[in-house]
Amino acid sequence: MSFIPGNPARDPVKFAYWVPNVSGGLVISKIEQRTSWDIDYNRKLAQIAEASGFDYALSQIRFTAGYGAEFQHESVAFSHALLAATTKLKVIAALLPGPWNPALAAKQIATISQLTEGRVAVNVVSGWFRGEFTAIGEPWLDHDERYRRSEEFIRALRGIWTEDNFNQRGDFYRFTNYSLKPKPLSPLPEIFQGGSSRAARDMASRVSDWYFTNGNSPEEIKKQVDDIRGKAKANGHSVRVGVNAFAIARDTEQEARDVLSEIIAKADPDAVNAFGHEVKNAGKASPEGQGNWAKSTFEDLVQYNDGFKTNLIGTPQQIAERIVALKDVGVDLILLGFLHFQEEVDFFGKHVIPLVREIEASRGHQVQAAE
Ligand SMILES: Cc1cc2nc3c(=O)[nH]c(=O)nc-3n(C[C@H](O)[C@H](O)[C@H](O)COP(=O)(O)O)c2cc1C
Repeated sequence: MSFIPGNPARDPVKFAYWVPNVSGGLVISKIEQRTSWDIDYNRKLAQIAEASGFDYALSQIRFTAGYGAEFQHESVAFSHALLAATTKLKVIAALLPGPWNPALAAKQIATISQLTEGRVAVNVVSGWFRGEFTAIGEPWLDHDERYRRSEEFIRALRGIWTEDNFNQRGDFYRFTNYSLKPKPLSPLPEIFQGGSSRAARDMASRVSDWYFTNGNSPEEIKKQVDDIRGKAKANGHSVRVGVNAFAIARDTEQEARDVLSEIIAKADPDAVNAFGHEVKNAGKASPEGQGNWAKSTFEDLVQYNDGFKTNLIGTPQQIAERIVALKDVGVDLILLGFLHFQEEVDFFGKHVIPLVREIEASRGHQVQAAE
């Protein structure tokens, strides 16, 4: 793969998929899902994904059940297993400050980087699930305090990975002349973050390599992109943007819409409402009320990260055009969830990604070199 440095608008848009390392899939619905959270299913899925043109897999961190997700494999260990089963795919391991401290995280990820030709990345998540923190005896900080801690966490990771005799005097973490050996391979593991609130955006504009946000329309995503890129520029930082989407690609638009209707008709209302209550509380705790789920409706909440709103639901052609429309407003990566992961990742790779590459090529964008 080759990119034109410093010209993200012309780079091929990247694709990631959510690793189903928790049970129940990515929709809070009783619809049939031919997806499993077990390792055999996931190893095969990762292999299908890398053969299908996916660049990244994003694993999730959950410590307890709640609104589905009764069983959960831990993200770092699981990510390593997927890296060991693949050769090109990058796997993004989720880290939750609080349960993780940056010394342990930096060491774990450096080792995995050494073992996997540097294919590991991290997603620093700031947390939304108070009940989970309570269950494992972790203090639950106010919304913006969670981001203050995450920012110190990210600065610590980067410092440990790049410096010898690293020192940090923060409110949450302290390091004194610490030298990690060995450090991760170069280039360093990329640092993603999840969250859309004011605090999340400000953190992205200072320290993160990537800003992941919930699903939304190109117009709404553009506002976020302009906001964080403007601030990042003022800070002398650059940040790339990934957007969540739940893809339903079918031969006809009607078939795809019917699947969406069935997912929503079979939603578990108690679980969706309870999830909505939890995340809106987490979001409301952000002073400006712009958190990830601040405006989500019942239907939006059936998908954990507002993935229906991105509207990658229809024929491959419609979906490819909408992906390029997102790219046009500054999106660098599309993060995808599916109902039946293995078969739909394969379908997406065969029918949607080639159309995206055709549209990019027709506009003179850099395209992926043939492998
Ligand atoms: C792409 C993405 C992935 C996320 N992954 C996780 C995760 O694995 N575990 C978790 O507890 N929270 C996860 N989150 C939630 C975020 O950490 C954050 O708590 C949430 O987005 C609310 O942030 P906000 O109120 O700042 O918008 C994820 C969020 C996004 C957008």
